[in-house]
Amino acid sequence: MRVKHYRSIVDCDVILSPLTVLLGFNASGKSNFLDALHFVADALETSPVQAAAGRGGLETLLHRSPEGAAASFELRLELSLGLPQSDDAVTATYGFKIGPDPTGEVPLLVLREAGSINLPSGTLRLPLGVHGRSSRLRLSASAIDEDAPQAVLESALRAMRFYELDSTVLRELDEKPPPRQPSLGPAGEYLGRVLGELAKDALGKERLDAYLSALVPDALGVDERREGRYSTVQARFRTGDGVETFLRESLSEGTLRAAGTLAALSQPAVLAGRVPLIGVEEPETALHPAGVNALYEALDDASTRTQVIVTSQSSDLLDSEYTRLEHIRAVANVDGVTRIGPVDAAGRSIVEKGLMSISELHRSGQMRPEWADQAPRQPGGGVGR
Ligand SMILES: Nc1ncnc2c1ncn2[C@@H]1O[C@H](COP(=O)(O)OP(=O)(O)OP(=O)(O)O)[C@@H](O)[C@H]1O
Ligand SMILES: [Mg+2]
Repeated sequence: MRVKHYRSIVDCDVILSPLTVLLGFNASGKSNFLDALHFVADALETSPVQAAAGRGGLETLLHRSPEGAAASFELRLELSLGLPQSDDAVTATYGFKIGPDPTGEVPLLVLREAGSINLPSGTLRLPLGVHGRSSRLRLSASAIDEDAPQAVLESALRAMRFYELDSTVLRELDEKPPPRQPSLGPAGEYLGRVLGELAKDALGKERLDAYLSALVPDALGVDERREGRYSTVQARFRTGDGVETFLRESLSEGTLRAAGTLAALSQPAVLAGRVPLIGVEEPETALHPAGVNALYEALDDASTRTQVIVTSQSSDLLDSEYTRLEHIRAVANVDGVTRIGPVDAAGRSIVEKGLMSISELHRSGQMRPEWADQAPRQPGGGVGR
């Protein structure tokens, strides 16, 4: 993913792994990067205008520096795509550039939009060129036949899911009629219904419960609780010689958040292969350090079914036998500008020589992106830490 002039990012080119852990201190720009990817999905699902409005407007998205605001931002993805017409995945690119409307008539303009799909028969350049003034993305409007390569590209991008779980929402009594195929909402909406749906697949539900017991001491599992047409959650805990069920009001924040993250990773749409990517903000929040490493295994496991990106600042999360340097993208704020990259050579060598584990490297403050040590491109600025 290439991101230019979006929030704190000036220019980042990041290769994402099946599992990517964006690690960095507060305000380094982890959420901004994830949000850039989310913007692509939102802009295609609704429109760039709505996606920007939901984020406080274009002005908040354009990179600002003491020299002023950027004239536009640009997002570009390279991805692999499974097409119904071919057995092997093909590579594709898609991206756009957005800036303000100088006349002020519309909230923003799409200044450029481009995409291509490398079909076995040759490269298909998508006819997305911007003609005149437009605040819409042409990829959204181009889907005529749902099997057409560009429609597959568009729906794959729209199907990315992003989570910022909220325990109040996870705890809610859900009164709304169930969506046809319940999927977990961005803050954890429909947790009960998703668990109910998942229980139809015994293996999937067992796996979720097993991870929950590893994450939360004495927890045995989490289930949907139906109360008439309402749905919510309850959890089973080991108590003395027995098992006790606790209702939503008495569930701890950590239990709810663990259940939400696990449900996001194993919800039916993910198991069915319909979600190409899941982004989760700080999944370790409210979890006990001793259990949080089990979360890493759950993330790694899920990354065999969908691409997973998480933001984190926890060293404890990394304390897992499943943690790999290749999963990590270190994020740093250098003079107000976000830098994202693989762990730099110094950090890699410390881990490879066995001097520190990955979590110790992070804890010691020596986990830096490859980039941060390079001299700034523009003269005048110092390289901060
Ligand atoms: N348009 C912008 N131009 C420049 N910087 C921006 C812009 N919008 C946001 N920022 C900066 O981005 C930073 C916040 O980045 P972000 O929310 O991604 O941090 P984070 O790494 O997720 O931190 P946390 O761990 O606290 O969640 C803030 O310092 C903010 O000033
Ligand atoms: Mg953040």
